[in-house]
Amino acid sequence: MAFDLAADLAARREQHRYRQPVIQDGPCGRYAVVEGRRYLNFCSNDYLGLANDPAVINAFQGAVADWGVGSGASHLVCGHQRPHQQLEEALADHLGRESALLFSNGYMANLGVMTALLGKGDAVFHDRLNHASLLDGGLLSGARFRRFAHNDASALRGQLQRSDARRKLVVTDGVFSMDGDVAPLSDYAAACDDNDAWLMVDDAHGLGVLDAQGRGSVVAQGVNERVPVLMGTLGKGLGTAGAFVAGSHVLIETLIQFARTYIYTTAMPAAVASATLVSLSKAREEHWRREKLVVLIQRFRAGAAQLGFTLMDSATPIQPLLIGADQQAMVLSQQLREQGFLITAIRPPTVPDGQARLRVTLSAAHEESDVDALLAALEKVGCRTSDVGR
Ligand SMILES: Cc1ncc(COP(=O)(O)O)c(C=O)c1O
Repeated sequence: MAFDLAADLAARREQHRYRQPVIQDGPCGRYAVVEGRRYLNFCSNDYLGLANDPAVINAFQGAVADWGVGSGASHLVCGHQRPHQQLEEALADHLGRESALLFSNGYMANLGVMTALLGKGDAVFHDRLNHASLLDGGLLSGARFRRFAHNDASALRGQLQRSDARRKLVVTDGVFSMDGDVAPLSDYAAACDDNDAWLMVDDAHGLGVLDAQGRGSVVAQGVNERVPVLMGTLGKGLGTAGAFVAGSHVLIETLIQFARTYIYTTAMPAAVASATLVSLSKAREEHWRREKLVVLIQRFRAGAAQLGFTLMDSATPIQPLLIGADQQAMVLSQQLREQGFLITAIRPPTVPDGQARLRVTLSAAHEESDVDALLAALEKVGCRTSDVGR
């Protein structure tokens, strides 16, 4: 049968790769409420604890009263309201760029940029562990598709040197979403300069978290002027929803004219933009959030290492525990759930085969005692790395 979907689903289940949403009965924050029980939430991307911040909520509610709920159309028809414009200007100013452009989410931003900038005769160069939306954007663009070993600048340089493509775009996560490590942006920028290529950084997980003012990976690594295309999301460190691309006026005008995922879709609600204006200024000014994260990260890493867990090379709030086998990761996630902790088991195809993991994420909404409680639970369930394939 051509459409034997039930067989595909059964196979997924057998592989321990079946996924299901957890239905939460409360906001994203320190805790998650599921089926009447409260869990410590160690799996959101709300790194700064802004998703349920009273001032951000207040801005959102006020803006709904002023601007309504739906934007009513795409940006270029009549969906672009004053808060959208203000947020684009605020993002550009914060990030030291000439201009910025909002997208409804990060997936769309990545598809839009890559299809607008690339086509046949061009080439795109990806880190092997890049986010799915970057890989999909590259495929959709029709450009030649190259992948280099994770964080390997000399492999990239070799590929660039061998390429005779018209345009060469190098694309990388700033902070890798499932590993928490950072890309060597300065080395990439040098390889791009030497080979007439452009560098695009998806800083979904760096924005708000890295650099003294939360400007993310490119500022933290001192390469802001050498990264022509900077993409960021609003639904992680900034606690709201949506995404943007920042760069030169010419880049942004190009996206307005040619990025189909900007042109042919309804603009995000203006209230989301208004709420983000507040969360952006909190992310910039409330240094205590990043300072607290540093303390929590150090505490977690020291404790987990002492318990004998395999930590990844990460100094960011993404602190995955490498487990290995899919089934074991599932069992451990369930055991931690029974202990009162919500931590998702991340399995292939999101991560490579044999590298299933518990993706622990820390947030400024957590307390040190939460980390201690998690470490105690980990000791109890006693998970260790099994047949890790890297
Ligand atoms: C690195 C990276 N880029 C892009 C996205 C997509 O962003 P959004 O959730 O806004 O679609 C995500 C995660 O969702 C991500 O982790």
